[in-house]
Amino acid sequence: MSHQSIRFAVQPGGALRGRIRVPGDKSMSHRAIMFASLAEGRTEVNGFLSGEDCLATLSAFRQMGVNIEGPDNSGKLIIQGVGMHGLKAPQSALDLGNSGTSMRLMAGLMAGQSFAVSMTGDSSLSKRPMKRVTEPLSQMGAVITTTAKGTPPLQIHGGQTLRGIHYEMPMASAQVKSAVLLAGLYAEGTTSVTEPAPTRDYTERMLRGFGYEVLTEANKISLQGGSQLMATHLDIPADISSAAFFMVGASIAEGSDLILEHVGINPTRTGIIDILRLMEADIELLNQREVGGEPVADIQVRSAPLKGIRIPEELVPLAIDEFPVLFVAAACAKGETVLTGAEELRVKESDRIQVMAEGLQTCGIEAQPMPDGIVIQGGQLVGATIASHNDHRIGMAFSMAGLRAAEPIYIDDCATINTSFPGFVDLAAKVGLKIREEGLAC
Ligand code: S3P
Repeated sequence: MSHQSIRFAVQPGGALRGRIRVPGDKSMSHRAIMFASLAEGRTEVNGFLSGEDCLATLSAFRQMGVNIEGPDNSGKLIIQGVGMHGLKAPQSALDLGNSGTSMRLMAGLMAGQSFAVSMTGDSSLSKRPMKRVTEPLSQMGAVITTTAKGTPPLQIHGGQTLRGIHYEMPMASAQVKSAVLLAGLYAEGTTSVTEPAPTRDYTERMLRGFGYEVLTEANKISLQGGSQLMATHLDIPADISSAAFFMVGASIAEGSDLILEHVGINPTRTGIIDILRLMEADIELLNQREVGGEPVADIQVRSAPLKGIRIPEELVPLAIDEFPVLFVAAACAKGETVLTGAEELRVKESDRIQVMAEGLQTCGIEAQPMPDGIVIQGGQLVGATIASHNDHRIGMAFSMAGLRAAEPIYIDDCATINTSFPGFVDLAAKVGLKIREEGLAC
């Protein structure tokens, strides 16, 4: 996957202006491949994210015998479903690259197959905790081995009879919820989960879109095993997590006025808008509509002086991927911003609390990491060279910091931006970020 060393060079200043559409939603793109592959019939998908993470899921299902045409330049895919029991054993291990979503959701699906599968990942994914899915799946009767530390590779033995369980999730995680529910498709009886706080609900919504009954009662979600998925047509809106970089960029860069088109605003994802508005950002949702059962809007962002806040803990799971760039907003705000209740950030593609705190400190900002959050004092950013730790969202967050820095910001190891946002540099440059990509020999 991403082996070349890419450095971003961002010159200071500028404003973000114009209208753009960022690429398709990553969570929905993964699920579109998985559910369409297991459905009866032919599913057409539009707006698929051709980023490396979703392409890893796509290629895993091709390895298991699913015929998938595309994606073309517009993100169109045609998937010929093989039915719930039509996957074939892959010839070799499934390499899921950087993608935690692929591995955790597929752990649930693969546990219900009649064949064995091993799943591997890159150096970042190989450090990420998998016990959070393998434990509930073992309770259902799955046989899965990990390293002694509970990290990938995963060996899923297959051929087990799964039984439905009720699982009280110890953390708010859509990936854990999804892994259990997806194994539940293959289990005897009812499988249910309760979540400690609402998390993105695409698994539930999309399963229903494929004709599978899923019950949501307060914080409990349940389904019965043994039914079928029926092919459908899917329209994937732009990813609010990718839009988030531009929402913060336009907020902090004086003179900005930017419209982000056709962004998914599912209420389990809009924490970024709520938090930025609490910081007094100027954000308007235009042309709100429903596309394929998902709420969508054009988001207009104009620059505004931000103020530091204490981030309400209930918004944390609803903005979980947006904190790197929210920390940049906090660095540009007046006063102090405090985040708590966000220990999950330490087990993302990098330890996002530590890596962001160190990066902001290098930029001259007072940033105090805590076990479950961070305290940031707004100030003047100075030029710096930042280590992205191969984390796509760290690279893009510090790119936006360039809008308010006094000198250039350089960000190393940015090839992983392609996992979620191919074309980021060109799109950002088009609306006014003074960003250039430099390939470094390594
Ligand atoms: C995702 C869930 C979240 C998120 C990830 C995508 C999903 O992870 O960070 O980028 O598609 O279900 P957690 O479930 O670990 O919070």
